[in-house]
Amino acid sequence: MRTWYHCQSIGSGLGFSGCAAGFLGVWFRLFRSFVVSGTCVIGLQWGDEAKGKLVDLLAPQFDLVVRYQGGANAGHTVVAGDETYKLHHIPSGILHAEVQNLITPGVVINPSTMLEEIDGLAKRGIICSKNLRISERAHLVMPWHMAEDKFINAAAVRGESIGTTNRGIGPCYRDKVGRTHAIRMADLAQSTRDERIRTVAEQKVTLLESMGAPKEDLDSIEPDAVVELARSWAERLDGMIGDTTELLLDACEQDKRILFEGAQGALLDIDHGTFPFVTSSNSSGVGVCAGAGVPPRWINQVLGVCKAYSTRVGGGPFPTELDDQVGEKIRKLGNEFGTTTGRPRRCGWFDAVAVRYTARLSGVTRLALMMMDVLSHFDELKVCVAYDLDGQRIERLPCHADQLRRCKPILETIEGWNEPVDHLRRADEFPPGAIAYVRRIEELVGIPVGVLSVGPDRAQTIFTDAASELALQPIA
Ligand code: IMP
Repeated sequence: MRTWYHCQSIGSGLGFSGCAAGFLGVWFRLFRSFVVSGTCVIGLQWGDEAKGKLVDLLAPQFDLVVRYQGGANAGHTVVAGDETYKLHHIPSGILHAEVQNLITPGVVINPSTMLEEIDGLAKRGIICSKNLRISERAHLVMPWHMAEDKFINAAAVRGESIGTTNRGIGPCYRDKVGRTHAIRMADLAQSTRDERIRTVAEQKVTLLESMGAPKEDLDSIEPDAVVELARSWAERLDGMIGDTTELLLDACEQDKRILFEGAQGALLDIDHGTFPFVTSSNSSGVGVCAGAGVPPRWINQVLGVCKAYSTRVGGGPFPTELDDQVGEKIRKLGNEFGTTTGRPRRCGWFDAVAVRYTARLSGVTRLALMMMDVLSHFDELKVCVAYDLDGQRIERLPCHADQLRRCKPILETIEGWNEPVDHLRRADEFPPGAIAYVRRIEELVGIPVGVLSVGPDRAQTIFTDAASELALQPIA
């Protein structure tokens, strides 16, 4: 019998051979080889790369799964058998009772939304109080942050709105950096809680009134009501809040296996993304240490997740965007509508310039190429290999949104394979056209593909030889 890392390679020496995994026992053997401690799963595009699916799949091989940035703007979809879970705050390892799930200081939490998530999971038999721990250092998204987001979001940046998820993420991170109006999880347990929340609420009412906020927004931040709300959060979350930093450092020193689950994608990184059309946290690989509270020495593998094409929600330049029937076809086939907001996603060809940049920035050791099945229905496909910026060919992502907006994609055409792949469980069963497509992406990005996804189900995931190399030759 062929083991998954001894099966014959096809094509070039990149080790693109298949491994079948139709049932759980096989999955477990596969993952044992794939996994090393301190692994990150990072989105390399503008979010929605199906990271949740991979985290859920890999989670049983880890002791801890850590959500370390972002907040309820994230929407991680996990399909387990007939059940579909849409997670916003809760780490995607939650479906595995033996895995400890942490929400660390870099996450901004809306306790009302998180409690809804916790209650929803409880109704389906998943009891978070057992294996979910929340950092006392995490900041709270308060009702006024949602109201502020609405106003600031509506204000156009250079003629184009950022198009935020309206979840209060930017205003909460702004208050975190500003400090004076910030509320953290730890504040919920202090005797000064009511007084502090009332003071901040009163100041926020004044601020929002001066911005012309309508009555319904002001009602939602009425100080007495918010004080009462915070009191109920404190009661409900009691027992789940604690020092995750200490817990995580202990776990590292005890050689526990830790999976860091990125939210959004690296192109939305506040410092390194397509600013200002970004989110407010470090969503690329460089954000793991600060957000989780873990020094770099404990991280040794980074799985960079990208779709086989590109999508983006919200505003901002998108060089390979297809504002035509091809884009519409991708949207339909890929069901490209936001998990959090339901907004239609903008769709376009794979942008190798952008992904090469974010893969390097994030220290990616293997790529996971998702949604391959969506590209099964095209006569020809295109990949962006460079940009034309004001008549000059460039192969790097320009810093300024205005420059990126002027970039015209230089596209290479690749013949489509035009047949379904969603039933395939081995990479060497792929049509030659699909293999050629994957190889070209590996070449352009400069990193081997370790995982291929051909559908939402756990079983529709193929680990290639490159994934076995990941485990067999871990980077120390
Ligand atoms: P915010 O994070 O809600 O402030 O939104 C800022 C930008 O990031 C907007 O363009 C959002 O559409 C985008 N964004 C935030 N979270 C996600 C996500 O999880 N997936 C995709 N886009 C996101």
